[in-house]
Amino acid sequence: MEQEKINMQNYPRVEIDFNPEIKPMRKFKDKTKINIRYNLIYPFAFAHIYWNPQISEVLYEIEEPILTPDESAVLEQIKTAMREMVNFNVIVEKSREALLEYIDRMFKIIAIELGFDIPYGSYRKIYYYLCRDFMGFNEIDPLLRDYFIEDIECNGANTPLYIVHRLYRNLKTNVIFNDTEYLASFVEKLAQRCGKYISYANPILDGSLPDGSRVNATYTTDVTTRGPTFTMRKFTKTPWTPTRLIGFNTLSPEMLAYLWLLIQYKMNVLITGGTASGKTTLLNAIAFFIPPEARVVSIEDTRELNLPRENWLPSVVRSATGLGNIGEIDLFALLKSSFRQTPDYVIVGEVRGKEAYVLFQGMASGHSSISTIHAESVDTVIKRLETPPINLSPTLLNVLDCVCIMTHAIVKKQETRKLKSIVEIINVTPDGIALTNTPYVWNPKDDQFYFKKNSKIFEKIAKRYGLTMNELDLEFKRRVQIIYKLYQQKIFEFKKVQEIINEYYKKPKEVLQKFGVQ
Ligand SMILES: Nc1ncnc2c1ncn2[C@@H]1O[C@H](COP(=O)(O)OP(=O)(O)OP(=O)(O)O)[C@@H](O)[C@H]1O
Ligand SMILES: [Mg+2]
Repeated sequence: MEQEKINMQNYPRVEIDFNPEIKPMRKFKDKTKINIRYNLIYPFAFAHIYWNPQISEVLYEIEEPILTPDESAVLEQIKTAMREMVNFNVIVEKSREALLEYIDRMFKIIAIELGFDIPYGSYRKIYYYLCRDFMGFNEIDPLLRDYFIEDIECNGANTPLYIVHRLYRNLKTNVIFNDTEYLASFVEKLAQRCGKYISYANPILDGSLPDGSRVNATYTTDVTTRGPTFTMRKFTKTPWTPTRLIGFNTLSPEMLAYLWLLIQYKMNVLITGGTASGKTTLLNAIAFFIPPEARVVSIEDTRELNLPRENWLPSVVRSATGLGNIGEIDLFALLKSSFRQTPDYVIVGEVRGKEAYVLFQGMASGHSSISTIHAESVDTVIKRLETPPINLSPTLLNVLDCVCIMTHAIVKKQETRKLKSIVEIINVTPDGIALTNTPYVWNPKDDQFYFKKNSKIFEKIAKRYGLTMNELDLEFKRRVQIIYKLYQQKIFEFKKVQEIINEYYKKPKEVLQKFGVQ
C-alpha cells in the first residue's frame, strides 16, 4: 500500500490540449465516401464523420477513451469527493493551466485517501474525464471544441443530439442524455456558466457562454414535451471579415463597396433572412466599414457581435431574476438609454418587438443604424414592422434606406449562404406600400452576382453631402478594387482588414497606391 501511494504521487501529469489545430477538410461530392477523423481534445477525443450504409446517413461520432466498469466506479467516486471539496464555479475563474494542475493534485490526494490502486493507464483516462467534466461541458465538450460545428441541438432525453457541421450540415451524433434528471442538471450547469438561473419557476434560458456561444434551453416538460432541451449556436472567436465572405462566395466586391459607402455616409441598413441564414455574420462583417473614430453602441439579446474597434459600447439585455420584472433591462430600455450616449451608429443585433419604434425614431433623428430582423423578403419585413407587436407607422419606415436579404441556397448540391439581393427603399406610402429599387442581385441560375448602376441611395447621399454622382461612382469603383485586391492577396484576418479600412479613411491615397489601384 505504501508503495502505491508513492507511485501515484509520482505519476507525471497528463498533457491535454483542449484546442488542437483542426486541419482544413474537403467537401465530398458523393457523401457515401465521407470518412474522416480529427482530433478535438488531444490525445483523448476525436470526431469521426462517416457514411453509415445501414441507415443511409452520415453520422458524427465522438470517440473517447472507454472506461472499464471499475474505472467508471472510481471516476464517480472521485467526482463525488471533488464536488464536496471544491466549489468549481469559483475555480473556473482560474487559468486553464492552473486548473489542470489543480485537478491533478486533487485527484491524487483523493485517490490516495480512498486507498485506490490506479494503474497509470487508468489514471490518464480518468484524469481526462475529470477535466472534461469539471472544466468543460461534459459529454458535449468535444463538440464545443469543434470549429466546424455551427449548432448543437438537444431535443430532450433519450434522443441523440444533432449538430450542424459547416461542410456536412445536419448530422446525428452518438451523444445521448439517457437520464432526464441528469439532463436537467446539465441545463442548470449551462445556465450557471451563462451567469443566469434556470428553475421550475423560470424554465427558459437565453444566454451566452463565456466564449460567446449562444445558448437557449428549457428546463421542464411543460415547456417542451421531451423534457429539458438546449440549442447552442457556436461562436467563431474572431469574426468573419468582408473579404472572408467573398471567399465563401456569399457576396460580391461590388456589394461590399456599395455597403461600405452607405455605412460611411450614415445610411440605415437592415439585414433580413430566415433562421441561420447568416444575418448576424453579415452585420458583423459590414460593421468593419464604420469609420474608425465614430462612436458605436450595440444592443443585443445575447452577445454575438465582435468588432475590432475601440470606440464601441456593447450592451446586452438583462433578464429578470426575481419575481415580477425587477432587474429586467430589455432591448427597449437599452435602446432608449443608448440614444442618450450620443452614438454615431447604433447596432441592434435583432429587432423583434417594441424596441423597433425607438430604433426608427433614432434613425429619424439622424442616428445611423445597422440591424437584423427575421423575415424572408422586403414585403414581409415591411409587414412585420407595420403589424403587432411592432406597429410602426408606414411613414416612419421611410427612414430605412436599404434592406439586405440573406438566404440559404443550394449551389451544385452544396449548401451555401448568399446575399440574395440588396433592395433600396424609395418610398413607403401611408397605406404601407413600398416602392423599391434593387441594384444588386444574385442569380441562382449561373451563381453570379449582378448589379446595375442606378442607385437611388447614391443620389440621396450625393444630395445630402454635396457630392456629384461622378465622384461617388469613382469612389465606388476604387473601393471595389481595394476589396478585390484584399481578397486576391488573401487578407482575411480581422485585425489586418480593419487596419486597412481604417487607414483608407485616414490616408486614402496611400492605401490606393499600396494596392496599386488607379
Ligand atoms: N456567409 C456564410 N458562409 C458560410 N457560413 C456562414 C455564413 N454566414 C453565417 N454562416 C454560419 O451560419 C451560422 C448562422 O449564422 P448567423 O448567426 O449569422 O445567422 P443568423 O441569420 O443571424 O441566425 P439567427 O436567425 O439564428 O439569428 C453560423 O454558424 C455561421 O458561422
Ligand atoms: Mg442572428
